[in-house]
Amino acid sequence: MGPEPIVTRDAQFLERIDGPGALARNAVVLTAPRSLAAERYRLVQFRLEQICRRDALKTIAVASALPGEGRTTTAMNLALTAARAGDRRVALVEADLRRPRLERLLGLPEGPGIADLSGGEVEMERCVRRVVRPPLWVVTAGRRAGGAEVELDVARLRALLALLRSRFDVVYVDVPPVLSSADAVAVVAAVDGIVLVARPRRSTFASMEQAASMLSGARVLGCVLNDSLGLLTGAELGRPPRGG
Ligand SMILES: Nc1ncnc2c1ncn2[C@@H]1O[C@H](COP(=O)(O)OP(=O)(O)OP(=O)(O)O)[C@@H](O)[C@H]1O
Ligand SMILES: [Mg+2]
Repeated sequence: MGPEPIVTRDAQFLERIDGPGALARNAVVLTAPRSLAAERYRLVQFRLEQICRRDALKTIAVASALPGEGRTTTAMNLALTAARAGDRRVALVEADLRRPRLERLLGLPEGPGIADLSGGEVEMERCVRRVVRPPLWVVTAGRRAGGAEVELDVARLRALLALLRSRFDVVYVDVPPVLSSADAVAVVAAVDGIVLVARPRRSTFASMEQAASMLSGARVLGCVLNDSLGLLTGAELGRPPRGG
């Protein structure tokens, strides 16, 4: 069972309604599709789609330097936007095992995910779950995620991404913060391109520069300035800091 899209007439977020299938209010492209934020996500998604179609890219990591800059919110809204268009098969992977949030955000029941994988294609298939409307497939961090002892198995994640690549047209990957996790750099090395998220009052030039240098070699498709108006409103895709 998946969340029902909720349509609002104004630009306000709906409050989260707790219970099975409830959608978090920061899934703004569904909870407030006419808001400025939703419009921005559509714009960012449109530009990414153009680049991906032109250059045959499929897997896109949503990365940032520091915790809390908005990677999960951005990845989720971009994936939901792509899914809503309905012409491509879209998957979203929560490859950040530190603080699993996607189940709660999308109102999904607890289920197996990346941290529970121990090898084998059949098992991987069980982790790919469908959000009914819009048709989006998600792989969450998993039941074992969140504990300090659980580490990301990069080889397994690569195998999972290879499977998803063969089944989907676009795969968004939510990765850990670059400056506090070696996993981020490893995950980014396994995708076709990245979107770098920054957030005013949180990101600094120094953190952005450091992250960009740690990600050198990755193809930066663009930067999203999240929360640019200080409220749940803005996301912009700008030029990448270098290359791309
Ligand atoms: N544009 C925004 N406006 C207001 N709040 C936001 C915005 N984007 C994200 N948030 C809030 O900021 C917090 C962090 O956002 P999110 O979880 O998307 O970031 P993250 O980079 O994935 O963080 P983490 O390092 O915890 O994984 C969340 O509580 C989220 O609801
Ligand atoms: Mg996150």
